[in-house]
Formats: sequence, structure tokens, C-alpha cells
Amino acid sequence: MALFRMVDVIEKKRNGEVLSKEEITFFVNGYTDGTIPDYQASAFLMAIYFTGMTAEEQGHLTMAMAESGDQIDLSAIEGIKVDKHSTGGVGDTTTLILVPLVAACGVPVAKMSGRGLGHTGGTLDKLEAIDGFHIELTEAQFVKQVNDLKLAVIGQSGNLTPADKKLYALRDVTATVDSIPLIASSIMSKKIAAGANAIVLDVKTGDGAFMKTAADAKALAESMVAIGKQVGRNTMAVISDMSQPLGFAIGNALEVREAIATLQGQGPEDLTELCLVLGSKMVVAGGKADSIDEARAMLKAVIADGSALELFGKLIEAQGGNAKIIHNPSLLPTANYQIEVPALASGYVTKMEADDLGVAAMLLGAGRATKEDEIDLAVGIVLKKKIGDAVQQGEPLAIIHANTQDVEQSMALIQKHIAIGSEAVASPLLIGEMITG
Ligand code: URA
Ligand code: CA
Repeated sequence: MALFRMVDVIEKKRNGEVLSKEEITFFVNGYTDGTIPDYQASAFLMAIYFTGMTAEEQGHLTMAMAESGDQIDLSAIEGIKVDKHSTGGVGDTTTLILVPLVAACGVPVAKMSGRGLGHTGGTLDKLEAIDGFHIELTEAQFVKQVNDLKLAVIGQSGNLTPADKKLYALRDVTATVDSIPLIASSIMSKKIAAGANAIVLDVKTGDGAFMKTAADAKALAESMVAIGKQVGRNTMAVISDMSQPLGFAIGNALEVREAIATLQGQGPEDLTELCLVLGSKMVVAGGKADSIDEARAMLKAVIADGSALELFGKLIEAQGGNAKIIHNPSLLPTANYQIEVPALASGYVTKMEADDLGVAAMLLGAGRATKEDEIDLAVGIVLKKKIGDAVQQGEPLAIIHANTQDVEQSMALIQKHIAIGSEAVASPLLIGEMITG
């Protein structure tokens, strides 16, 4: 006999009551093993959508999902394991930079990453733009490499958080994706199953982000920080702007080049600043600095003395890739054609719709429209302007990197979605609120 009847649990949530840990675990386990059918799970998710969940309930949901499948055991790695999660955006190269940057300050970084389904690839796709690089390490090799070198990046294990996978697929077809308690517990369950002791969240807001408004981004960040507190993982969040793409590069090999430039201290200002903000939180959470200022100085020092870049080279070498690219990025895949996108008017850039620029890159082959699509690692877009910049008619707004000369559709999208006005505007504030427990 089951402990509960699902219909009673649905009714309780529908009436806005608070569920117990046992009730939530009963639902997660029952849905995962198929004893609770889709129709009851759908009704339950919709009840959550409308009545919400307390921080305690979200903590229980998170842990039940984290415990629904494999969990990575990082206890054999010395030190505090700090993970970082970004809620996603366009041209977000921060993970590639932060992994070696933070590891160079002594914080062990055991990074589990995914492939992208979207405008450009995920971190794994980007790393695979490096000839020979592979992400298939056994758990034992993964742990050993982090102990030896302080960093490793692997692909997501097949059976991590199966409850979240199944629930996410159901949410996708029942109009219950955009519920903050459900998003927060979905993200946190994966981070916890991946073994993190501390979690630094980069919650994006703006046109190119999941959360379109600063208020929603803040609510999501607060939910995740509260879950972290509830389940005993030191969690903090930074709200950052995604109303325009981060950095200049959108595309896999192009973003690896941008990551190398940033590790050399020559990266785009916004991308560099965000990495310093997130990185300093990671270094403090990892116990390697006592204050944000101290951590920031350490990060700047490992950029200036080249040790962060050298460590990126060691990561590449350890995982079978050609480490020469760190000093010779021209060894990365390169597109056959570089085509300028001219501005159609003179004035100032007032708006860059990150989402649509991502689509323009995807049309060139930089991202996947379906899970089966192959990515062209060489192609993408390099922006020449950002919001607030002055521009003359005919001047390039961006350079398209393509393996075909037929780029009309992408070019038109870029010209349409980089708005040019007659009045100068301020560039958007990159870093918004910081949320800590
Ligand atoms: N990303 C996730 O991992 N889960 C969600 O529910 C939404 C975005
Ligand atoms: Ca970028």
C-alpha cells in the first residue's frame, strides 16, 4: 500500500496547503517509476504553477529529484568543490574561462557540462572545437584529474536526475515550464547530484535570457539561494544582463578564441568583468580568499602572470586535445568566409536583441535546432558594436564567419535586430543585484 493517494496530494496543493517531505518524495518517486500517471502529475504541476511552494517544499522537491538517480561522489577530491551555473544566454563563454581561472587560484573545479540545444553549443561543444579534446572520463579518472590538476570537464552522466528529465518533458507540454519553484528545484537538483558543496549562480535577465525581467530573475535567484540554504549547500546568485550578447563572439570555436583572449587579459570588457565577479565569489566560497577584494586580486594576478591560461592548456592536454591552441588560436577550426554586415543607417546602437542574434548564428550552423543536428564548430558571428556605440552607415555591425557565401538570411536578421537610433543611449548595467543566503 502506498503511503498516500496522489489525488489527495493534488487536492492539498490545489488548495494552497503546504506539503510534507513525505508527500513530495512520494510524488517524485512515483512519477519516476511510472506508478503515478502523467495526468495526475500534470494536474499536480499545474497546482504548483498556480499556488507556488514554500522554500521548505522546494528543498524537498530538489532533494527528491537529486536522489532519483546517480549522484556524483566528489568526496575523494580535497577541498571545497564549487560549481557555477548560468541560466543561459547568447554567446555566454564564462564557463570556459572560469574553469581554469578559478582552478588557478587553488579551488578544485570538477565540472559536469551539457551540450547546447539552442543558438550555439554548450560548453562541451565549445571544448570539442579543440582538436582531439574528449569529455569521456570515468568517475575515477575525473576525480584523479581534479586532484592532480585542479580541473576537469566531463559530459553529463546518463542517469543524473531522471525525475527532473521526466518532469521537464511533461512541463514542456503542459505549460508549466515557467514556474519559479519548478525551475529553481530543477536547476538545483542537477547541481546537487553533480556533487557541488557550494554553488554560484549566474541568473541572466533580458531579451536573450530565460527570465525576461529583472523582477523574475531576482525571484528565481532568491528561490535557488533559499533552496541551497535549506539543503545545506552554500549558494549565492548574481543577476547579470543578457539584453545584449555577452562579449563579441557567438559560435563555438569563436568563443574558444574569445576565452583564450580573456585568459590573456585581452577579452571583451563585459565578459571579463562578469568572470571576475563570478570567479571571486567562487574563490571565496572555495575558501581560498577571505574577501571578494582579495579574490578579485588573485584572479587578476593569475591572468597577468599567464598561469590561468597555462592551466587551460593543461586541461586540454589531459583530455587529449591540442594544447598548442592556447598560444596559436589559428589552429582552431576556421570558417572559409568572413563577411561584413554593414549598418544600414548612421546613429547609435540602441538595442541588440540577443535572442535573434543567436538565431542568426544558429542559421549559419553554430547551434542545434533539434538534438540530432550537427554543429559546424567554425561558424558564427563576431559583433563589432554593442549597445551605446556610435555607428556610421556602411560600417560593419558584425562579421559573419560562414562556410557558405549564402548568408543573406543571417545578415538580414542581424541588421534587423541591431537597432540604430539617433540618440545616444547608455550601455545596460552588466551586474545587477547579488543575492546571498
Ligand atoms: N533550466 C532547467 O534546468 N530547468 C528548468 O526548469 C528551466 C531551465
Ligand atoms: Ca561571447
